Amino acid sequence: MKFRRLTFCAFLFFCTYAIQAQPIVVTADKPTAAIQPTMWGIFFEDINLAADGGLYAELVKNRSFEFFNPLMGWTIQQASPATGTVLVTNRLETDSANPRYIRVTRNSATGKFGLTNEGFRGMGIKQNEQYNFTVWAKSESGNISLHVQLVDSTGKSLGESQTINISGNNWQQYKTNFTAKATELKAKLNVWFEGQGVADLDMVSLFPQHTWKERPNGLRADLVQLLADMKPGFIRFPGGCIVEGRELATRYQWKKTVGPVEDRKVIVNRWNTEFAHRPTPDYFQSFGLGFYEYFQLAEDIGASPLPILNCGMACQFNSAEVVDKTQLDPYIQDALELIEFANGDVSTKWGHLREVMGHPSPFDLKLMGVGNEQWGPQYVERYKIFTRAIKSKYPDIQLVNSVGPDPDGEKFNFLNDTLRAMHADILDEHYYRPPSWFQNNASRYDNYDRNGPKIFAGEYAAQSVATVSPLNKNNWLCALSEAAFMTGLERNADVVKMASYAPLFAHVEGWQWTPDLIWFDNLNSYGTPDYYVQQLFASNKGTNVVAITSNNETLKGKDSLYASAATDAATNELILKIVNTSSQSVSKQININSKKKFTQTASISTLQSNNLDAVNSIEAPKNVSPQTTEADVKNKQLNLSLSPYSFTIVRVKML
Ligand code: AHR
Repeated sequence: MKFRRLTFCAFLFFCTYAIQAQPIVVTADKPTAAIQPTMWGIFFEDINLAADGGLYAELVKNRSFEFFNPLMGWTIQQASPATGTVLVTNRLETDSANPRYIRVTRNSATGKFGLTNEGFRGMGIKQNEQYNFTVWAKSESGNISLHVQLVDSTGKSLGESQTINISGNNWQQYKTNFTAKATELKAKLNVWFEGQGVADLDMVSLFPQHTWKERPNGLRADLVQLLADMKPGFIRFPGGCIVEGRELATRYQWKKTVGPVEDRKVIVNRWNTEFAHRPTPDYFQSFGLGFYEYFQLAEDIGASPLPILNCGMACQFNSAEVVDKTQLDPYIQDALELIEFANGDVSTKWGHLREVMGHPSPFDLKLMGVGNEQWGPQYVERYKIFTRAIKSKYPDIQLVNSVGPDPDGEKFNFLNDTLRAMHADILDEHYYRPPSWFQNNASRYDNYDRNGPKIFAGEYAAQSVATVSPLNKNNWLCALSEAAFMTGLERNADVVKMASYAPLFAHVEGWQWTPDLIWFDNLNSYGTPDYYVQQLFASNKGTNVVAITSNNETLKGKDSLYASAATDAATNELILKIVNTSSQSVSKQININSKKKFTQTASISTLQSNNLDAVNSIEAPKNVSPQTTEADVKNKQLNLSLSPYSFTIVRVKML
C-alpha cells in the first residue's frame, strides 16, 4: 500500500515536472506571415481634454469667447467703484467662423481693470521657460494698453510682460513674451488694461515657447514624446465618436480645422455632456489641433496617417441622425478633397492649402476610415456610395469600415457578413471588455478567413470594472490580459494588419472616460502599464511571424502561457513575446529550431508585478515599467524563468 502511494506521488511529480519541463520550440526559419509596418499604432480622440487642455499647448481656455457662455473661463478684475466694462460683441454677418470678440472699455485712468483666465484646470508653468502671448486687437477710441502676468494660486506674480499699446482701428495681432520665475501647476493669466478708452480683443493666447520640435503655437513636447516612444505604425484621428457628433451639426468637419487658427470655427465637444457622472461644461473644440497638425504629427512620429471621416451618420448612441442619401455629396466631397489635401499636387486647390500651411510635399495618405462605430443597413447604404466614389478616383486608398461597437452579437454579425460579402478592404473591430475576455480571445483570429477583408483592431482596452464605469483602472491585470491577447494578434498578422488601444489620453482632472493609455496633469505625464505593453509590442515588432509552440501546440492560454514570435529582417533578430498570467513562476527551456547561428547573449525585457491591482500614477509613473536583463544562449537554447504575472520579450541576434 505504502509502495503504491509512493508510486502515485512519483507519477504526480513526474506529470507536473513534465509540464514544466516541456520546452518551448521556436521554428525560426519558417515565416508564417508578414507583419505590416502599420501593425501597432495609436488611436487619438479629443476626449478627456486630449486636444485643448492636453496635446495642443495653448494655455488660455476660451481664447476667442465662443463657448456657450462667452466669458466661461474668464473673470473680470476691477477696483470699486467700477473702472471698466467688458461687452461681448458678435459680428456673425461678417465673420461666421469666429463671430465673437470682446469690447473693453476702461473709463478711469486709475484703479485696476483686467481679465483673468483660469486655463484648463489651471495652467502648467515652468521656471525659466519663455511664454509667448498674442492677441488680436484694435482701438476704438482713447488710448488703451495692456500687459499680462502669470500668477500662482495665491496671486503671487510668476512673470510679467512688457506693455502693449493698442493703436489703430484695424484688427492686428500683437505679441510679447516673458520668462516664468517659478514652476506652478495651476497658474492663471491676468490681462491688465491701462489708460482710458475702448479697445476690441479676440484670440487671447498664451503658449510655452518650448513645444514639440519648438514649433510656434505647437504641441506639448512631453506628450508627443510619449507617442514617439511608442514607435507607432499609424495614428488614427480624430476619433472615435467625435467624428460622428451627437448630431450631424456637431460632426467633425476637417475643412473647418485647417488654415489660420482664428478662422477655425469653435464648436462644442461631444464629450461635454455625454456622461452625467463626468460633466465637462467647459469642453469645446478650438481645432488649434486640426487636420494639418494631425498629418504633421503623424509624419513627426513616423506613423502612417489614418483619418476617419463622417459618413453622413451621427452617433447611434445619441441622435442616430443620418443625412438624406440625396444630400450625401458634401460628405463625399470632404473625403475626396481630404485625399487631395494630403496627397495632391500643390497646383490643386487643397494641395495648395497644404503648401501654404507649410508642407508642399505630400503626406502620403494611404488609409482612410469611412464612419466610426456605425451599424445597421443605413451604414451599408452609405458604405456603398462612399466606396464607389473614393475607389473610382483613388483606387489605391485602402478603406477602413465599421463592424459596429461590439466584437460579437447581432450588429457585428450583420456588418461582418455583409461587408465581407462586399469585399471590404479593412474591418474595424472594437472591444471594450473585461480582462478575462482578452485572455480567452487570444485565439480569436486563428480561424478567420485568410482571404477575406483584413482586420483593424481599432479600439480596445480591458475594463477592470465595466465599460464606461468611472471606477475603471489601468491596472496590471488589464495590461497583462491585453498582452496575452496581443500575442494572438501578432500570430495572426496575415489577417490583423493594425491594432490600437483606446482611448489614448486623459487629463487627471478633466477626464470623461477611463481607462486611458496616457494620463497627464498640467506639467507631468505618464504611461500606464497598458502603455508599456503597447510600447513593447511596437518596438519589438519584427517583420515576419514564426511559430512558437510547446508540445506542438500554440501557446494561447494553456498552463497560463501565451506567446508569439517574429524575426526582424532589418535587424536580423529573433524576437519572442511570452506572457505568463499565472501566480507561479514558470521555468522554461527555449529551443530555437534554425539553421542559423545565434549570438550567445539574448536581451530580455520584462514587464511584471506581483500585484494585479498595481497602477502607475503622477507620483509613481514607472511603478510598472519594463526592466531589462540578459540571458545566455548556448546551442540555440536558453533557459527562462517567467515570473508570476509577467510579460517577457526576448531578442536574440541571428548571425
Ligand atoms: O474610445 C472611446 C469611445 O469608444 C470612442 O469614441 C468610440 O468609438 C467608442 O465607443
